[in-house]
Amino acid sequence: MKITAENTVPKAMLRKLSSFISVRIGLYFPEDRWNTLQEKLQPACREFGFRDIGLFAEWLLSTPLETSHLEKLAAYLTIGETYFFRNINTYEELEKKVLPELINSRRKSSKSIRIWSAGCSSGEEPYSLAILLHKMIPDIKDWKITIMATDINLKALAKASAGVYGKWSFRKTPQWIKDGYFRKTKGNSLELLTHIKKMVKFFFHNLAEDPFPSLIHDLTSFDIIFCRNVLMYFQPHLAKEITDQLNYSLLNGGWLVVGGSEGYSVSRSNFVTVSFTDAIMYRKDHLNRDIVEFRDKELQVATPQPVPGFSKNKPAEVISTGIKKVKPVTDDSEKKILKKKKLLKPAYEKALELFEQGRYMEAGDILTGLIMKEPGNGEATKLLVKTCSNQGKFKEAIKLCEKNIEVNKFDPVMHYLLALILREQNITEKVVMELNRTIYLDPDFVLAYYTLGNIFFRNGSAKKAEKFYDNALSILDFMKEDEILPEADGLTAGRLSEIISAKKVKTDTP
Ligand SMILES: C[S@@+](CC[C@H](N)C(=O)[O-])C[C@H]1O[C@@H](n2cnc3c(N)ncnc32)[C@H](O)[C@@H]1O
Repeated sequence: MKITAENTVPKAMLRKLSSFISVRIGLYFPEDRWNTLQEKLQPACREFGFRDIGLFAEWLLSTPLETSHLEKLAAYLTIGETYFFRNINTYEELEKKVLPELINSRRKSSKSIRIWSAGCSSGEEPYSLAILLHKMIPDIKDWKITIMATDINLKALAKASAGVYGKWSFRKTPQWIKDGYFRKTKGNSLELLTHIKKMVKFFFHNLAEDPFPSLIHDLTSFDIIFCRNVLMYFQPHLAKEITDQLNYSLLNGGWLVVGGSEGYSVSRSNFVTVSFTDAIMYRKDHLNRDIVEFRDKELQVATPQPVPGFSKNKPAEVISTGIKKVKPVTDDSEKKILKKKKLLKPAYEKALELFEQGRYMEAGDILTGLIMKEPGNGEATKLLVKTCSNQGKFKEAIKLCEKNIEVNKFDPVMHYLLALILREQNITEKVVMELNRTIYLDPDFVLAYYTLGNIFFRNGSAKKAEKFYDNALSILDFMKEDEILPEADGLTAGRLSEIISAKKVKTDTP
């Protein structure tokens, strides 16, 4: 629709709208793009049931928008331009240089690779990565390949899940890919073969609002993150913030791939620029480890201490880089415990600060020292568990949880964390068991119901999933919308409620 004098938004309102969109979605519309903004708002205006774009703009600015509204709006404002093996040079360099090193080292260890396509649009990018891995790893069936693919545009995500593409998605795609990985469907479209489709997990995630790295959404410890042609639409300060968070979501030595014109925001984050013959990629610097400024004499001479409340006959073991035996508890008075807790608090706070800055190794060192001093310290253990999983040290994280559960059997959070990490390791039966334990210990632990719902949802048991989602919703009903859920990486009760309601719509449909 053409913008006419009667059908325009006043400048002052456009200014407010552009700042609102920048904050909530990330997309930046400076003054010279206000016309484009108005053009994009026209069809959105109709879908939201407004005739007059001015009234629509007013409504957007005055209503506390639910995420579902935001999702709808985002679909009109974003640019979903993408195709298979876009910028083929990048894929060629990955195939020649980056992936062989990664595959060889993992072949000798975990046989696992984790990739995230952030801003995946209709799926051509994550599927291209899946095809490449499939081509390069002949025994891929024995590997654990995780490809997470997220976007803010729900329509694009629905298309991605269907995996059916027209000519335009293959505009520069080599023939061998079309022949080897697709089958023809109606109207000359091509459908991706099921085994490749199954390699990618799609879900909604807003880079400007939703937290990451995030254990709950399985967005941590990646080997490679593609975030191409997304940051260019954001304001520089937001693009820099997002690149920092992407850095924290990578393993040391992991790779970030951005679009050709997006290097600027990356250059200001903690990455090493690696120029290949035909592409530039950014590596999380694993050699220049920052020195921890924190110096705590208490921690440096960490002598093993008795475990409060631990059985007299059973010696505890402390998980640290080296496992240490600790004497059984004798008669630690409450006062002594409190004093020690006070002494250790600054160390925990420093570790938390480092964790939030993505400095996992340093945070881990402090926390290990802390736990040596106070083996039953649940808070420190929980943070160390997250620190380990953000570094891909899942086995260590599992051990830590299990050891802590020996001491703090009745801590639901520890069982929940253990479940999340076991989920990452694909140990579904144990995951379900730990989540049930979490609920047994705390029947209001909403995230346990949510996670169980997700597990059954993914396994195709829609009825069971719905039951758990309903349980979660009925607990959330009693919470304030802006209440931040414990152990949820900053997720609020209101947001979780919206996420679950959106999922429930899908479980209700056959
Ligand atoms: C141009 S496409 C890029 C697709 C793909 N990465 C590529 O390079 O071919 C940009 C994608 O970023 C998504 N996007 C924009 N803002 C986003 C946000 N705040 N969070 C997540 N995705 C976002 C858009 O919906 C769109 O699908």
